[in-house]
Amino acid sequence: MILVTGASGYVGNNLVRRLVQLGKPVRAMVGNVEKALKRLADVEPHIEIVKGDVTRPESLTEWMKDVDVVIHLVAIAIEKGKRTYELLNTQGTINVVEEAKKAGVRRFINMCQNGAYPDVKSRFLRSKGIAQEYVAKSGLDWTAVRPSVIWGPQDEFANVQARLIKLTPIFFPIVGDGKAQFQPVYVGDVVEAIVRCLEDDSTIGKEYELGGPEVLTYEEIVDRVLAALGTRRIKVKVPVPLLRPVVAIMQTVLPNPPATTTLLELLAVPNVIKEDGLAALGITPKPFTPENLSYMKHFTIGTTIGKFFGRAFEEEQVRQAAMGK
Ligand SMILES: NC(=O)c1ccc[n+]([C@@H]2O[C@H](COP(=O)([O-])OP(=O)(O)OC[C@H]3O[C@@H](n4cnc5c(N)ncnc54)[C@H](OP(=O)(O)O)[C@@H]3O)[C@@H](O)[C@H]2O)c1
Repeated sequence: MILVTGASGYVGNNLVRRLVQLGKPVRAMVGNVEKALKRLADVEPHIEIVKGDVTRPESLTEWMKDVDVVIHLVAIAIEKGKRTYELLNTQGTINVVEEAKKAGVRRFINMCQNGAYPDVKSRFLRSKGIAQEYVAKSGLDWTAVRPSVIWGPQDEFANVQARLIKLTPIFFPIVGDGKAQFQPVYVGDVVEAIVRCLEDDSTIGKEYELGGPEVLTYEEIVDRVLAALGTRRIKVKVPVPLLRPVVAIMQTVLPNPPATTTLLELLAVPNVIKEDGLAALGITPKPFTPENLSYMKHFTIGTTIGKFFGRAFEEEQVRQAAMGK
């Protein structure tokens, strides 16, 4: 049995579908079962959906029974109230590791993040770095993947730019100088990397940095999104200190803010991989090209506003179903 934590998330639902396709038995652990039932409706008859909270170890114990592999995906990029990076990302991972050990699970695949180390400035990246350090010292048969920013039909990075473009008819604000570098990696390639780690024990004890085939600046990413949408905007560079208060207000007011203070912080940190983990795992990455982003054309002003106000989840499901995803 494979236990996937965070199974209803962006990476999680793609991974679960792939595991089902491969005929693997999956226990999908989530915080909100109702949301998971909607998001995983097409594969629901083939999996077990269970409710667990990584911050409450006792809620995990039962779900570790009969598990051979844990694939740990849960993390938050936006803090809310008591749900801090340290509690969810660090302590949450420690709890999952400890419960796995208690239940005698040996294999553990941890979703880390490119640039996440215990000594970095960003609290978000640090929380993930400390978690990975704990996993590496756990004594389990662990493997870690460290993707750069992940793109795909449900992502919260490139799609946010596309949605904002829909809302800004003439000018488009570029955060900072637009020169921060990224290596967007396709969600399907990240999922495939996890599957290869799962199937190949020579990956035990290793970390794989995952990046797409090109290093792109933030401004180049916006240019590709504009090309995908078949539109143009006058780009205006806005210094981060000017954006911070606006973003902080959006983050407080909107259920799904288009930008967060963490995103602003991350836009300042180069997110380029040093070692090509996809190549090491024998995967040819899908490029971040306007053709491959054509799904963005389906975004409308209505779904964009709905998304930022937290309504668009179902609309997104309908759209994806219509596209046969
Ligand atoms: N997205 C990227 O570009 C990117 C890049 C590099 C690395 N990563 C890493 O990839 C992983 C998955 O990211 P994602 O973008 O797929 O995240 P996501 O869409 O926000 O999904 C997070 C998942 O975690 C679950 N969850 C949240 N709090 C929980 C809790 N207390 N207990 C149990 N489950 C909880 C959520 O379920 P509920 O909503 O039901 O609570 C959801 O299934 C994370 O570790 C992230 O750091 C992501």
